[in-house]
Amino acid sequence: MRCTRKVSEDIIWVGADDRRLALFEAVYPVPLGMAYNSYLILDEKCTLIDTVDRAVTDVFLENIESTLGGRTLDYLVVQHMEPDHSATLFDVLDRYPTCTVVCNQKTYSMILAFKNKEVRARIVRDGDTLSLGRHSLTFIFAPMVHWPEVMVSYDSCSGTLFTADAFGVFGALGGALFSDEVDFERGYLDEARRYYCNIVGKYGVQVQNLFCKLSALNIKALCPLHGFVWRANVGYIVNKYLLWSTYRPEKRGVVIAYASVYGNTENVANALACRLFDMGVECALYDVSTTDRSHILAECFKYSHLVFASVTYNGTAFVSMEHLLLDLASHGLCARKIALIENGSWSSSAASRMREILTPMREIEFINEDISFKSAMHTDSDHKIESLARKIVSTL
Ligand code: FEO
Repeated sequence: MRCTRKVSEDIIWVGADDRRLALFEAVYPVPLGMAYNSYLILDEKCTLIDTVDRAVTDVFLENIESTLGGRTLDYLVVQHMEPDHSATLFDVLDRYPTCTVVCNQKTYSMILAFKNKEVRARIVRDGDTLSLGRHSLTFIFAPMVHWPEVMVSYDSCSGTLFTADAFGVFGALGGALFSDEVDFERGYLDEARRYYCNIVGKYGVQVQNLFCKLSALNIKALCPLHGFVWRANVGYIVNKYLLWSTYRPEKRGVVIAYASVYGNTENVANALACRLFDMGVECALYDVSTTDRSHILAECFKYSHLVFASVTYNGTAFVSMEHLLLDLASHGLCARKIALIENGSWSSSAASRMREILTPMREIEFINEDISFKSAMHTDSDHKIESLARKIVSTL
C-alpha cells in the first residue's frame, strides 16, 4: 500500500510530495510544496507512466515495488524529459532491467543528451497505440506544451488521459489525489492558474492545437504529472485551459502593480485603487518588490486592465518592475488595456522604459497618456487619479 492511491482498480498513483522545496524550477515559490505524479498500470504488461524528481526517489521506488507485489515492470512510458519527471528514469531501469522505455524519437534524443546512455526503447509515432492487455495506450504528441518532445497518452479502456504537465497545480497533495477531495476553486484554482501562466502560458497556440487533437476522445479522467487527478467535472478544468490558452481575461478588473521606494508611488497606487473601488471596479494591488512576480503574472493573465506604477531609479524603471514587465513580455501575454504611472524627484523616465518593454506585446492598448508625479502627490493629484479611474471605467 505504501504512499499510494488508486485512480481506478488497476491504475495506481505511485508519485510523491516534496514539501522541502523552496523554488520549483529554481524560480517559482511553492509554499504548499510540490507533487510529482507517476502512475502504474497493472495489466498483462505492467506499465509506468513517467518517473519523478530526484528529491523523492526513495518513496517513489518503494511505491512501485509494493504496488507491483513481486511482478516486474514491462514498460516505462516517458511523456516528458524535463528532469522533474525523468531524473529517476535510470533508478527505475536499474531495478527493472528488462523494462522497455516507450517514447518518441525526440525524447530518445533527450535521454541520450541528459544521461549519455542508451536504453532498450520502443519508439512511437504520433497516434501509435500500445496494447498492455486490457488497457491500450494511444500516444498523442503535444509539441511545445511546453517542451518539444511532450506527448500525452490516452487509455481507451478507462477513458483516462495522462496529460504530462498539462492541468498541473503547484502544491503537495497531502493524500488528497482527486480534485473533488478538496475545495479546488477556493484552495487551488489560483495555484493552478499560476502554474499554467508561468510554465505553459507562453504556448497558448500549442495548447489549443492539443485540444483540437483531443476533441474526438471520450475523456473520463485526467492524470497530470503535478497536482490533482480529475475524475469528476473534467469540463471545469478543461474550460479553464481553453480560456487561459486564448489569453482572454477571466475577469473585467484592474491589476495595479507598483514599485515604490519610500511609499509615495504606493500612495498613488492606493489612491487609484480607492477611486476604482468607489466606481465599483474590482482591483488587485501588488507591490512588485514584495510579491513574487509569478503571482502578479498570473493576475495579469486573469484581469483585463493593467496599471503599472514605478518610481524612477538609475534613470529607468525600478528593477523589480522591469523584471515583472520583461517576464510578462516573454510569456506572450497579449490583448490587455494598460496605463502607466511614473514618479521621480528630478528626471522621471520610468514610464518610457515600461512603454518600451510593453509596446511589442500583441494587441495591447495604452488607454491614456503616461501620468507623471514629482516625488509625491500634490494638489492636482486627485484630479489626475480620478481622471485615470474614469478612463479605466470607460474602457472596461
Ligand atoms: Fe513538470 Fe515540464 O516538467
